[in-house]
Amino acid sequence: MILDPKRLPILETERLRLEPLTAADATHLYPIMGDPEVMAYWDVPEVEDPDIVAGVVQGQVDAMTGGRAIYWAMRTLADRAFVGSCELSEIDRGHRRAEIGFMVGRDAWDRGYPLEAMRTVIAFAATSGLRRLSARTHLGARRSEALLETLGFTEEGLLRGHILKDGERRDCRMFGLLL
Ligand SMILES: CC(C)(COP(=O)(O)OP(=O)(O)OC[C@H]1O[C@@H](n2cnc3c(N)ncnc32)[C@H](O)[C@@H]1OP(=O)(O)O)[C@@H](O)C(=O)NCCC(=O)NCCS
Repeated sequence: MILDPKRLPILETERLRLEPLTAADATHLYPIMGDPEVMAYWDVPEVEDPDIVAGVVQGQVDAMTGGRAIYWAMRTLADRAFVGSCELSEIDRGHRRAEIGFMVGRDAWDRGYPLEAMRTVIAFAATSGLRRLSARTHLGARRSEALLETLGFTEEGLLRGHILKDGERRDCRMFGLLL
């Protein structure tokens, strides 16, 4: 497998440039992670403290350095506007598999950006030697599920009470794609 943490890939799509996330991107992710609508189906509630977002992003940068994940900042090619982030995480070289994730600011929804980004990330995963991708959604996350189905993912099962959020247990759906 050719996923080298020392050579993190920059990917380009028709309208987007995907660059490995840096600590400085926390300032762009802060308003997105502070939006209750964006975070409605995320494992944790919206974040109000910028230091917490900075800590999350630093954890993601550390995971990249350790070769466990690649997080990309999505920017438009036209004006370099930050629209969100996407990832390959939980990279398991032995089993040649990883998880995918995506988060886009509400201003940039309904333009097909995550669809375009994830098609390119999936192609990159395949050429890098990964053979299985998975994704997990909260029940009711219609936009995420529609996106995963368009990308070719198949629903594989239900994780009952997988997440504890706001004092309630939530069920999650698992999706998978064999490459
Ligand atoms: C999930 C999320 C990334 C989806 O974003 P999105 O912009 O709705 O996703 P898509 O890229 O699939 O675009 C959706 C719509 O854009 C429209 N669109 C507009 N222009 C388009 C273009 N050039 N190409 C493709 N689609 C386009 C399509 O009609 C599509 O709607 P449809 O699938 O119903 O036909 C976003 O809602 C989000 O960040 N949610 C919060 C975070 C989250 O829950 N992440 C997932 C955790 S698993």
